[in-house]
Amino acid sequence: MADIVAFSGKKRSHSDDMDNGNGDAKKTMLSNPILHSDPAAALASARHEFGEHGGVNMSIEASATFTVMEPETMRRMFTGELGPDRDFFIYSRHFNPTVLNLSRLMAAMEGTEAAYCTASGMSAISAVMLQLVSSGGHVVASRRVYGGTHALLSHFLPRACNITTTFVDVMDLEMVEEALVEGKTKVLYFESIANPTLAVANIPELCRVAHKKGVTVVVDNTFAPMIISPARLGADVVVHSITKFISGGADIIAGAVCGPASLVNSMMDLHQGALMLLGPTMNAKVAFELSERIPHLAIRMKEHCHRALTFATRLKALGFKVIYPGLEDHPQHELLKSMINKDYGFGGLLCIDMETEERANWLMNHLQNYGQFGFMAVSLGYYETLMSCSGSSTSSELKPEEMALAGISPGLVRMSIGYIGTLEQKWSQLEKALTKLQEHGFPGKN
Ligand SMILES: Cc1ncc(COP(=O)(O)O)c(C=O)c1O
Repeated sequence: MADIVAFSGKKRSHSDDMDNGNGDAKKTMLSNPILHSDPAAALASARHEFGEHGGVNMSIEASATFTVMEPETMRRMFTGELGPDRDFFIYSRHFNPTVLNLSRLMAAMEGTEAAYCTASGMSAISAVMLQLVSSGGHVVASRRVYGGTHALLSHFLPRACNITTTFVDVMDLEMVEEALVEGKTKVLYFESIANPTLAVANIPELCRVAHKKGVTVVVDNTFAPMIISPARLGADVVVHSITKFISGGADIIAGAVCGPASLVNSMMDLHQGALMLLGPTMNAKVAFELSERIPHLAIRMKEHCHRALTFATRLKALGFKVIYPGLEDHPQHELLKSMINKDYGFGGLLCIDMETEERANWLMNHLQNYGQFGFMAVSLGYYETLMSCSGSSTSSELKPEEMALAGISPGLVRMSIGYIGTLEQKWSQLEKALTKLQEHGFPGKN
């Protein structure tokens, strides 16, 4: 079956459109987003797809299947001669034009040759692992990853696929190097900014160590879209839970795999492709919705980050145990500074370590039910602030000893800072709850 071609292989050039006499000169606008180092610049330079009737937005290709004019065309599509790079589509579990358009935006943002979007972040992660690692293969992964990913690597993949994982502290490069077994380890997996501890991975150094042993580096960049570009720092593959900041609406579950065109094409292979054969397909209507949100992702990220930094700084001044990579006392603050794209900030999440689950619950209860500061809910990247106690929620898949090794305190409150309302309005709600908390004799302070 035909491949997608990376940015160089556009379906038609701008001048072709001008010349074809069919009045569709505006159908596409082309450029080379991969050349840009800033994700917003790359997005603005990505091909813009207009609607069928000249609409400023592309039309939604809400079709499961696609027709051909000649029976011979079908055979040529199945042999791979004709493909989405030339606007030939077969069936939407394979490539769909609207999903492909969103995927192009994802690739532009991450600076990868290609990308494809999926039904969830977990399906992006599991599909990429299954594509890159065969039965008997080995993975080295950070012990500080999202609970679902941890469960996939520590329970599901060993049982279902005989794929084993060694969990390491990715801050310890020697430990990583020792765990990577040349010839056997296929993937080094970590999160750019870890869920929920906000530990920052040294992407260039980890890539250097892995590449020396021929290992593919897969980075989950869910916590830092726009802020960090792992592929521009050396990573081979970037995965996303689009569900979070990229969507921003807390209404859609979605994911993406961004990487070389050869990987994306292999994932669509009729015989061996994890996306084609497992089928975690994104719906075209969902892809359209998400395409409309990406243009303001940069602005949203800046405001998430600005408020998170302001709140973290003020919380620290009040004496609370706050974890935020934008603070100078964060152990990887300088490292993060050396990796981030200019002007976005240090991330939209902060953690307050309340030490016990009881204190954490007290705080969240007050912030939601008396202070209207935010919602007790898992997930992140929403315009409202979302708060959860990670140890009893999104990291509860980890055993107590794994939790301790990952640095997750039982009272760790993870906050995804929203941008609704004014900053001072939201700060006063937070401050009031904290004052009350201190009156109750719940220190939560250093
Ligand atoms: C860092 C990270 N990666 C992946 C996922 C899974 O994404 P999804 O819920 O879209 O499947 C999550 C979910 O919380 C996450 O936090």
